[in-house]
Amino acid sequence: MKRAVTSLSALQRASRGRAARFSTSAGLQNSSPCTRYTAATHDTPSSSASVQSTLATSENYLLPVYARPQFVLSHGKGSKVWDTDGRCYVDFSAGIAVNALGHGDEEFVKVMSEQASKLLHTSNVFHNEWAPRLAELLVELTRREGGLGLADPSAGAKVFFANSGTEANEGALKIARKVGKERWAKQAGRAWEDGGCTKTRIACFEQGFHGRSMGALSVTSNPKYQKPFAPLIPGVDVGTMNDMEGLQGLVGEDTCAVIVEPIQGEGGIHAADEAWLRALRKRCDEVGAVLIYDEIQCGLYRTGNLWAHSKLPADCQPDMVTMAKPLANGYPIGAVLIRDSVAQVMTPGTHGTTFGGSPLACALGFHVLSRLSSDNVGKQVQETSTHLVGRLEKLPKYFPKLLKPEVRGRGLILGLGFKDTTNPGRVVDMARERGVFLLTAGKDAVRLVPSLNVPKEDVDFAVDVLESVLSQM
Ligand SMILES: Cc1ncc(COP(=O)(O)O)c(C=O)c1O
Repeated sequence: MKRAVTSLSALQRASRGRAARFSTSAGLQNSSPCTRYTAATHDTPSSSASVQSTLATSENYLLPVYARPQFVLSHGKGSKVWDTDGRCYVDFSAGIAVNALGHGDEEFVKVMSEQASKLLHTSNVFHNEWAPRLAELLVELTRREGGLGLADPSAGAKVFFANSGTEANEGALKIARKVGKERWAKQAGRAWEDGGCTKTRIACFEQGFHGRSMGALSVTSNPKYQKPFAPLIPGVDVGTMNDMEGLQGLVGEDTCAVIVEPIQGEGGIHAADEAWLRALRKRCDEVGAVLIYDEIQCGLYRTGNLWAHSKLPADCQPDMVTMAKPLANGYPIGAVLIRDSVAQVMTPGTHGTTFGGSPLACALGFHVLSRLSSDNVGKQVQETSTHLVGRLEKLPKYFPKLLKPEVRGRGLILGLGFKDTTNPGRVVDMARERGVFLLTAGKDAVRLVPSLNVPKEDVDFAVDVLESVLSQM
């Protein structure tokens, strides 16, 4: 059987026509959702022998921990990806909020090729040219654009490079444990090495996601992820984000660390309130706990600012920020940005990694971060977000039986809440069968995290498909 190869450009020409009508009708006056993409165009199983062979090999040899659709991705450009059958998709998942500059970026590929042929890996036994340069860029950009209390000119910060978000969080939790021990020892008037240190507890929040290693999983309070692997690390207390009253009991004298996402990603796109973050910061200061913001999904310009907390006043800012996903546009990297007041407890040999901080990862991180901070990307994110949110806000009005009233999130980390929790998965499947990649988040949401430079025509196509799908449900 010969499969039809769907041309996205044809679909998008239609979409563009519609988008043009939107813009000429001043202020999106359309009163009904798009129904142009009700028919599935990307759902036929591949008849290619090579695809069948890849899927069979995958089934035979890969650990089956991922549920994946039955096609094989081949290449990408900007916000579009193609499968090996030639079908094109608009990628509103961006590798789960990773490909900030999109796919197939030529300048990025040039840096990668040049650095890989020059020096790829040396281990941390030696210095390389790029790790300190990327660390300096992270610290000085944070000082300039806001975050981590670095507006205070006497404050400094250090960076630890890892290879993933999980590993960045693992590092941050370890550093906080050591800070807790030193602070306890100072108060107790004896060395923590002599035993008896109680300042080891870690607080985290419901619906938070911090990774899958034993430490990161222990602070990811989701029974689905945790139960099969229990017992986890002890001494973890779970609170509720934005619950003011709960803070006093949650964070106490024995707490060494509090970890929170300023905007929860995997948990369903829930933002922390400024007043609550201020109260959390205050409580951490009262008891001497280290405050960690996990900005692995929401940081690095996804909200339009360097950090999701960049524009918050100093009294809402953390001691450490963890990052990963977009920093090298898809090449594995993670990092912890640490105030000097906390970083000073770490000495040679206390933590480490073989691959973290490699010349290749850091050259790529330096390139990506330089572009995100100087190419007007923040402004573009805000403009794209205004347009996208403007369209998404109409959906609960079109589909009040399906959708919760609020569009959640900021910038280009957005979520649509569904009243029936079986629907987000259905929407993601149906959108993919019409050429758009979306993600679910938490129990009730569809998540939109496109590349930060996603063109308006791709935004319109994605929302047109979403409207068509919702109108069929
Ligand atoms: C907020 C947050 N923290 C940590 C992680 C774990 O990162 P990684 O998958 O790179 O280990 C993720 C991944 O989705 C995340 O969204």
